[in-house]
Amino acid sequence: MTTMLEDKDRIFTNIYGIHDWGLEGALKRGSWDGTKGLLEKGRDWIINEMKASGLRGRGGAGFPTGLKWSFMPPKQEGRPHYLVVNADESEPGTCKDREILRHDPHHLVEGCLIAGFAMQAEAAFIYVRGEFIRERERLQAAIDQAYEKKLIGKNNIHGYDFDIIVHHGAGAYICGEETALIESIEGKKGQPRLKPPFPANVGLYGLPTTVNNVESIAVAPTILRRGASWFKSFGAENNHGTKLFCVSGHVNQPATFEEAMSVPFKELIDKHCGGIRGGWDNLLAVIPGGSSVPMVPASEIMDCPMDFDSLRAKGSGLGTAAVIVMDKSTDVIKAIARLSYFYKHESCGQCTPCREGTGWMWRVMERMVRGEAQKKEIDMLFEVTKQVEGHTICALGDAAAWPIQGLIRHFRPVIEERIDQYTANPKPDEAPLVA
Ligand code: NAI
Ligand code: SF4
Repeated sequence: MTTMLEDKDRIFTNIYGIHDWGLEGALKRGSWDGTKGLLEKGRDWIINEMKASGLRGRGGAGFPTGLKWSFMPPKQEGRPHYLVVNADESEPGTCKDREILRHDPHHLVEGCLIAGFAMQAEAAFIYVRGEFIRERERLQAAIDQAYEKKLIGKNNIHGYDFDIIVHHGAGAYICGEETALIESIEGKKGQPRLKPPFPANVGLYGLPTTVNNVESIAVAPTILRRGASWFKSFGAENNHGTKLFCVSGHVNQPATFEEAMSVPFKELIDKHCGGIRGGWDNLLAVIPGGSSVPMVPASEIMDCPMDFDSLRAKGSGLGTAAVIVMDKSTDVIKAIARLSYFYKHESCGQCTPCREGTGWMWRVMERMVRGEAQKKEIDMLFEVTKQVEGHTICALGDAAAWPIQGLIRHFRPVIEERIDQYTANPKPDEAPLVA
């Protein structure tokens, strides 16, 4: 049974930036409290506690974090280990890691030291999204404070030498894919590698590496201080903990906030966002986890627990917990066509189904927006999404296919109606949707 989170259970107590983001403020809010003692409990204790907490990766895929840490091989002489933190937050609708970097950066800095220690890493590389200029400056300032007070670095007070290096991206969505991100840090073109091998075996500079999302690392110190069972007490089975949600679109108050996992959608929106614009009857559909997951129609989302497994059962996913709300004023075909353009634009072009498929899907979607299509093309479009899904090197191909599948599955009559309207009243000279 999931209950709403109380203030005392929030990990991120400065998400709106009302307190001091710096070291002094972070110390008052509990960061860096007893960190040495946590390290003294040993690597196995840390990894087992993270496993026991049930934390699933907060970057979108939901892979168990403690298990991922345990994949790092035994340390060998002359083969450094690395932690890489993915702060390339680019998923449309997602703006949660940004708030950590801006307002609570010491959670991340301390988390890097602890995770790095657990995996015997020499250093953490934090890869910050190209557009996050102020965020990168804020993070660097927090890291500088930590160096100055000898919380990290050589001969630090925690007794484990550890460096943190900030790497600034250049604004490519695909560099958020973990292996493209590694290539980018190495100074190469940001293109995903085939997996396996996974980064734990062949990662940064070919060395054992773990790549984690900002939120996954930033929650680790609090989990270890308060205990795995505390974190596990929130959410449903296999979907535990507190979680940052970012809600945008047609709610009365769009917001980023921390809530318990598995809280039903309607409660989440009523409590944090003041309900749906125009009332609950005005809700059309929701993309519950950033643009890479299919939408869920209003009738199916209301009571749905907001977690990985419940949303998967609805044919969608929690993804990055970026909840995009669409009311009945939305041109739902146009909304998905805009995403199709995004994926076409961001495809790295390395594999054929994605390179050709994203362009093809977008061009058909653009005609669907105007209704300038034949009804048989709806099935053809669905079939093409199935040819792209699962046939590419990285998840971008799936991410381009799934929103279209969701549209056809739930809003086929709307597409057909648009085609009927165009057939009755063609407007061939109308400007294209995305120039
Ligand atoms: P994935 O499922 O391939 O991998 C997830 C993580 O688990 C990776 O770190 C991977 O190395 C690890 N992993 C998986 N299986 C493993 C195994 N057998 N052995 C060792 N390690 C293993 O998913 P991926 O491609 O990393 O992420 C896809 C997700 O990313 C999507 O669901 C989407 O929601 C999210 N996403 C997030 C964005 C953001 O801005 N935060 C941007 C775009 C997508
Ligand atoms: Fe590049 Fe797309 Fe292939 Fe991913 S799926 S490697 S983005 S071409």
